[in-house]
Amino acid sequence: MIFHIMTLFPEQFEAFKQTSIIGRAAQSDLIKLNTIQIRDFSLDKHKKVDDAPFGGGAGMVMTVQPLKDALRSIVVEENHLKRVIYLSPRGETLTHDKVIELSTYDELILVCGHYEGVDQRFIDSYVDEELSIGDYVLTGGELAAMVVVDSVSRLVSEVLKNSDSSEEESFAMGLLEYPHYTRPTDYEGKLVPEVLLSGNHAKINDWRLEQALRITKERRPDLYETYIKGDHSKKVREIIKKVL
Ligand code: ADE
Repeated sequence: MIFHIMTLFPEQFEAFKQTSIIGRAAQSDLIKLNTIQIRDFSLDKHKKVDDAPFGGGAGMVMTVQPLKDALRSIVVEENHLKRVIYLSPRGETLTHDKVIELSTYDELILVCGHYEGVDQRFIDSYVDEELSIGDYVLTGGELAAMVVVDSVSRLVSEVLKNSDSSEEESFAMGLLEYPHYTRPTDYEGKLVPEVLLSGNHAKINDWRLEQALRITKERRPDLYETYIKGDHSKKVREIIKKVL
């Protein structure tokens, strides 16, 4: 999967591109991260990329020309399905389902705004959708773009590794995750739950599901209600009954 990131601050992506799972996925060509400096495309002699808003008001607005030319410079491979996304608090909120949907594209073009935002005419003419990572306002779209790349790449890498670890995870199942423990078994008198040391995998799975249900019921009753209304095996229904 190829991510093209249009930004005024490509340096923000340097550590991100090289670190941990994203770094490894990029190294092994599962994903490709291509940052594009929007300023390089400004035709202004001072490489200006923004201007004052018509109608007045605070801040500056990113102009159409550098954005449009930066976008045009991106070469999408033949037969590749691409989507142009503008990161903005006005967009649809990113969820696990949305991440799955985005993972079906071959190339994502992520446009990071700054200052007060971008000229609406760029959005109207070139953007397929606006995407928000939550109900708060960031100083720019870069962190939001990293969230999109990170969450989508995780799915892409897991799928290609044929691993079930993302499948098992909370949002994939519709529940929050059960608690995790590692060594030591006794940390300042706080013990690891006995069942996890038992080696009985069926029991461990039941315990984990019960914990996931309890924590979801408490913290995200909306997810809990949806989950318990779903179709489940007899075993799962028994565990749900314990938590009800
Ligand atoms: N840019 C500024 N705030 C944002 C948000 N919440 N989500 C995505 N992009 C943003």
